[in-house]
Amino acid sequence: MQTLIDIKDLNLYYGTYHALKNVNLEIPEKAITAFIGPSGCGKSTLLRTLNRMNDMIAGSKIEGKVEIAGTDIYGKEVDVETLRKKVGMVFQQPNPFPKSIYDNIAYGPRLHGVRSKKRLDEIVEHSLRKAVLWDEVKDYLKRSAFSLSGGQQQRLCIARALAVNPDILLMDESTSALDPISTLKIEELAQELKAQYTIVMVTHNMHQAARVSDRTVFFLNGEVVEATETEKLFSNPSDQRTEDYITGRFG
Ligand SMILES: Nc1ncnc2c1ncn2[C@@H]1O[C@H](COP(=O)(O)OP(=O)(O)O)[C@@H](O)[C@H]1O
Ligand SMILES: [Mg+2]
Repeated sequence: MQTLIDIKDLNLYYGTYHALKNVNLEIPEKAITAFIGPSGCGKSTLLRTLNRMNDMIAGSKIEGKVEIAGTDIYGKEVDVETLRKKVGMVFQQPNPFPKSIYDNIAYGPRLHGVRSKKRLDEIVEHSLRKAVLWDEVKDYLKRSAFSLSGGQQQRLCIARALAVNPDILLMDESTSALDPISTLKIEELAQELKAQYTIVMVTHNMHQAARVSDRTVFFLNGEVVEATETEKLFSNPSDQRTEDYITGRFG
């Protein structure tokens, strides 16, 4: 597998708190990588460094490098808006805008200069189809996004991220607020999307990581303990701490 994201000697501090400790990690393209580990171990923090969402947190400081397709995303010439377009993010709680289903999807493309109604219609349909939501909403595009169920709202948020044509999709516990059936739909969707996108998902749920990911990264106290093929990590981990975690001895 080809590496798309290359994290080198990364340290992150919140004030004096050392939240990520010398992280070195390669993330392959067009695959699903899962981040697992106990609450507070730095999974979301590392995910946020991949589209510079951490820039917005006052007092956070980063050292080291994050390269995406060979470019240091913390380099001076990098435009953060363009970066976030290329590296989309979906959060724990579905967070559609208080707008229509259509306008939720059209928002990003409009922001980036798409004006043609015909082109916007195409993007809306295409994005909703990719998120396997089109058939459920095609007759209600003018309705408020809030009229949708939680699971549909989350697929809408995925469609919204896809509408600006990203390479990478970050998902931070994006199914933890959903019922089991909606969760399964999002997991199936992620499996389909990995043909075209690189997916990095934080999950609280080890079974989810085992079900859907190609590679799994186990974190503890801000450090990467083990990063390997999912099958290997869950069947034959190299580190005793991984073994203790996956067998439920802590966490
Ligand atoms: N904005 C912040 N300011 C200060 N500390 C933070 C902030 N966000 C997270 N932390 C701390 O950094 C550590 C890692 O947090 P986080 O990345 O959210 O962990 P996880 O996603 O694995 O649960 C935790 O100890 C958390 O309290
Ligand atoms: Mg988190």
